[in-house]
Amino acid sequence: MTSLELTHWWQPFTNVRAFRNNPRLIARAEGCFLYTEDGRDILDVTAGLWCVALGHGRQEVADAVREQLMTLDYAPPFQFGNPVTFRFASKLIEHAPQGLERVFFTNSGSESVDTAIKIAVKYQVARGKADKTRLVSRQRAYHGINVGGTSLQGLPNNRVGFPILHEVDFLDDTLDMEQSAFSRGLPERGAEKAEQLAAIIEQRDADTVCAVIVEPVVGAGGMVPPPVGYLQRIREICDEHDILLIFDEVVTGFGRTGACFASQRFGVTPDLMTTAKAINGGTVPMGGVFVKPHIQDTIFEAAPTTGPELFHGNTYAGSPVAAAAGLAAFEIYEREGLLTRAAGPIGQYWEDALHSLRDIESIIDIRNFGLLGAVTFKGDPSRFPAGAGVAVHNRCFENGLLARGVGDGMVMSPPLTISEAQIDLFVERYRRSIADVMG
Ligand SMILES: Cc1ncc(COP(=O)(O)O)c(C=O)c1O
Repeated sequence: MTSLELTHWWQPFTNVRAFRNNPRLIARAEGCFLYTEDGRDILDVTAGLWCVALGHGRQEVADAVREQLMTLDYAPPFQFGNPVTFRFASKLIEHAPQGLERVFFTNSGSESVDTAIKIAVKYQVARGKADKTRLVSRQRAYHGINVGGTSLQGLPNNRVGFPILHEVDFLDDTLDMEQSAFSRGLPERGAEKAEQLAAIIEQRDADTVCAVIVEPVVGAGGMVPPPVGYLQRIREICDEHDILLIFDEVVTGFGRTGACFASQRFGVTPDLMTTAKAINGGTVPMGGVFVKPHIQDTIFEAAPTTGPELFHGNTYAGSPVAAAAGLAAFEIYEREGLLTRAAGPIGQYWEDALHSLRDIESIIDIRNFGLLGAVTFKGDPSRFPAGAGVAVHNRCFENGLLARGVGDGMVMSPPLTISEAQIDLFVERYRRSIADVMG
């Protein structure tokens, strides 16, 4: 690759200038491993970007995509349908939390978030509550990069300096390393932080608040499991004040927490639920917003019968190719028991492996839930200006490991197929990388 070629692709969320000096090119992938152009294997404990839940290179998905491309590569979704996408929608609803019986397809998590916001506001307007437009998000939240999602970002770098919606309030995030460091699974303490929602609603007036959006487990912001009882309390407060609850399950969906959706794992059902990533094993861009039928009914009843009930959608929404990949992915999810695997022995093995790192002096917190994990290092801005986690992440890649750096922390979400031996390999390469960086 010439240095000129390296300038043509402006990569997303990338320190492009650093990349050009040290290009990290991935040439192929198989199972839980990526391979660089020079043939080095990299254990992928991020499942790509939380999406390749089935492991890389699944033959059945590839075959289904090829066959679909040759049968029906594309059909317009505006005013038309196709059988494959309807079949996939039914498969998804079969696995969805009870009561979420409609799915609106998108192409990404960001589009799912903005779609959910638009449906939520449209619903309030349709039932005569046009003043209910305000949204509530959380500090540390990541909700994608479209203007709606950017406005909901609890990670300042992703919000500041961009055009945003201003009617958004933020709950504090629930990470509390003073009280709950090294918690295994859900932290016992912290549910009272949900009461902030009641305070915001009182300040703003419930008649102006449309919806609250939360990631059941915070993902990109540092993998933070909710305190025991927190999500239940958020649900109760929403119900008390006639406010919609949106779960952003773009990361937590499709087996990551040990159930198909975190909503099911935690026993809390939202009114709308955003998804993407592992919906078809991370193979063909696709997302979906799950909606309770009464929301759709209300929007339909308020709309004239002469045109679309919702003036919203994308060219590729519900692409038959993405849906065919999804049907093939679900055959694997179901056959291999992957949607619940993280709640079984492998989840326990993962938890024990992560917490075995506790003896490392530079580590000040370890968190886990299902097949999610996070480590926080003691910060040292003079040594690690971009964050200690980012420094370790860079070293990990040299040592054959892909785990994500987020400031002073690192987050992991291995493919749901990961084996005990691969978890052992993760621990070995991770320890070595931390030692190389920290000395
Ligand atoms: C919780 C959450 N919501 C939304 C998104 C945006 O998804 P996408 O990158 O597919 O647009 C992400 C991406 O990581 C996410 O983690």
